[in-house]
Amino acid sequence: MMASGAAFPGIERGATFVLHEGSRTLSCAASLVAAPLAALEADARDVLGPDEQALLTDRLAPSRRQSFLAGRRAAKTALSVLAPGVSLREISVLPGLLQQPVAVVPGRSNLQVTLSHAGTAAIAVAHPEACPMGVDLERAAPEAQSALGEQTTPRERALAQAVLPYDEHQRLLLLWCLKEALSKALRCGLTVPFRLLEVASLVPLPGGVRARFENFTQYEGIAFCEAPFTLALVLPHSVRWQSTDAADSPQILREWLSDVAAVG
Ligand SMILES: CC(C)(COP(=O)(O)OP(=O)(O)OC[C@H]1O[C@@H](n2cnc3c(N)ncnc32)[C@H](O)[C@@H]1OP(=O)(O)O)[C@@H](O)C(=O)NCCC(=O)NCCS
Repeated sequence: MMASGAAFPGIERGATFVLHEGSRTLSCAASLVAAPLAALEADARDVLGPDEQALLTDRLAPSRRQSFLAGRRAAKTALSVLAPGVSLREISVLPGLLQQPVAVVPGRSNLQVTLSHAGTAAIAVAHPEACPMGVDLERAAPEAQSALGEQTTPRERALAQAVLPYDEHQRLLLLWCLKEALSKALRCGLTVPFRLLEVASLVPLPGGVRARFENFTQYEGIAFCEAPFTLALVLPHSVRWQSTDAADSPQILREWLSDVAAVG
């Protein structure tokens, strides 16, 4: 586990984990950042390179400045763990043609990152390009419940009700999160009919679920809920997860959600 930023006036967490597929070992790193905009802006010059600073114009709404800065800080922190000796400023994470994050890390040609923001928090997972992933972090907004419900099938709602000990809003949010994370792994975003991203099965985990998808059987999702937050990570089904801190468990992500939920 990386050290938390001692001088940073917010939450900053990091963890490394290893995925195995056959004889292949894939090193990954996750990072969570939650901080007020003023704190993120104070550090921006140490985090952003010139091309990224050019995107942070005064025309951006404060909420977008917040998400951009928290997301870039989380993404670069995760990437830097996999590229020791490279500073955050030297790493670039710029939008690709599909608005997907495209990482360029000096000395490393095969690293990418997936990221998500919600409220003042952002989470990122850095991963080898060989192992596509998508992450999504959502904060509950009860007024969105009917819209969330419209994007689920009766089968998904029944599955979630049978397996998840949460209220209906959190169940719908968890299904949404899994589908948005899958859409990022696929790089299409939510431009495709939700039906294509349908969740086919849910198996309980402590504090969350493991999910499979109807049309993308090569992927699986892991999702956790700590109200008001929900988090999903989608990755290839063929890999076995081994945390370097707590063997064989992605539970560290759930612990981070609790930390963020504690400050709102
Ligand atoms: C991907 C998408 C679902 C993310 O939704 P969101 O409400 O912004 O939610 P999140 O905070 O969870 O994720 C945002 C991050 O997703 C990533 N992302 C955006 N598009 C992506 C894509 N096609 N594939 C993978 N990741 C993507 C970005 O890193 C973005 O953060 P950044 O802009 O700060 O770099 C949504 O933006 C989408 O559907 N995009 C496709 C449609 C499109 O091209 N829109 C262009 C803007 S109108």
